[in-house]
Amino acid sequence: MTQLLDIPYIDVLDPAFHFASPQISAAREQHWYARTPVGLLILRYQEAADLLADTRLSPTGSGHLALHGITSGPIHRYLGSNMSSTERDNHVKLRAVLAPFLSPRRLAEAKGLARTTAHDLADRLTTDGSPSDLMADFADPLALSLFCHLTGLPADELQPYGSASADVGLVFALSLNTELRHQVEHSLQSLFSYIEQAMAARRATPSGTDLISALMKTGLPTHQQTSFLVSVIMGGHDAPMHQLGCALVALAEHPDQWERLAQDPALIPGAAEESLRWSAHTHTLRFAVEDLEVAGLAMARGDMAAVCNWSANRDPRAFDRPDLFDITRPRGRLPLAFGGGPFFCPGSALGKMVIEVGVEALTQRYTAPATAGPVRWRPALAAAYGPQHLPLVLQER
Ligand code: HEM
Repeated sequence: MTQLLDIPYIDVLDPAFHFASPQISAAREQHWYARTPVGLLILRYQEAADLLADTRLSPTGSGHLALHGITSGPIHRYLGSNMSSTERDNHVKLRAVLAPFLSPRRLAEAKGLARTTAHDLADRLTTDGSPSDLMADFADPLALSLFCHLTGLPADELQPYGSASADVGLVFALSLNTELRHQVEHSLQSLFSYIEQAMAARRATPSGTDLISALMKTGLPTHQQTSFLVSVIMGGHDAPMHQLGCALVALAEHPDQWERLAQDPALIPGAAEESLRWSAHTHTLRFAVEDLEVAGLAMARGDMAAVCNWSANRDPRAFDRPDLFDITRPRGRLPLAFGGGPFFCPGSALGKMVIEVGVEALTQRYTAPATAGPVRWRPALAAAYGPQHLPLVLQER
């Protein structure tokens, strides 16, 4: 039987804490999960994958609200009725609204435009020896334009809300201090206002074919529609943008592999997947919806378990030579980056496409870049971790 002392304790609220730390690797070798001040942190791959697929646990918004002690205000409005909080039937209906916009056929049709957009953006980057910010000048507009192309939403209207959707992702952090909470509330407020205006415009002219028009035809409660749109705008723009940023950091740190991609673009899908393993979002949360036992661990209803993607994706039980970034790694197990079970990310194929076309355009046109000054990262406990500012000096081939 597991004794409490056998289970490592990690203070994730220590300001110096970072997921990418030897303390996490050491804890993973000690036990499959660690205790933290806010709940359990799942460290090994297989247990994490099982837990994500286990329907006795859910990412429900009410769990996040309880975690942060929030009972009112814009965060409550969003999380109280976001997708994962809606009853099963409505959750399925919401996913079904999005599915046709991201179908394999639509994605295949969009691939040519995605490539052209990535090449156009790559053409405009600075090559005079001064750095380009690959987040603001490349990853951000690329992710936004592909998301908008596929969903029919107007990019010029959504563009001003880019930083708002990035801020909203902080709501899934393991902890929210007052400053972050105000930042999220302010951003949510502005996204809600935009969504209300956009819905009013479609009510006045109901013949549209975009995602918002399709959603409004479902007859689902308005508060669920509004929260769904917050999730989709955030997931569709913010997540691919930051994950592409993570891929570019990894490749800039491994210039030999950047050059291999330039010589052999067939390696790009493997490189995108390796970047998802290497630097996936930091965590995916689950809350027990009933008292349960999992792999010998008893959880009470409401208990929280955070899957630590960084650790699970470096678990030597699942990946050979896990601490090596290798774009030619045989693709056996999928890295944990998109969650699991009924909540598995519905935008995973689009997310991968953004990474692939972005990496392809840059490696074709530029030699392996050098970072110019420090990369500025989002807060370590943010659910969608990634660079905020990525200064790279680019040189044409
Ligand atoms: C590389 C890019 C992306 C990453 C790494 C990512 C990651 C994730 C993760 C970890 C989850 C939580 C899953 C769970 O709880 O099991 C999620 C959910 C979600 N994602 Fe993504 N995502 C990406 C791209 C996208 C895109 C492009 C869209 C939309 C166009 C999107 C929309 C959503 C939505 C709506 C959910 C909630 C699903 C539900 O509750 O059923 N994501 N994503």
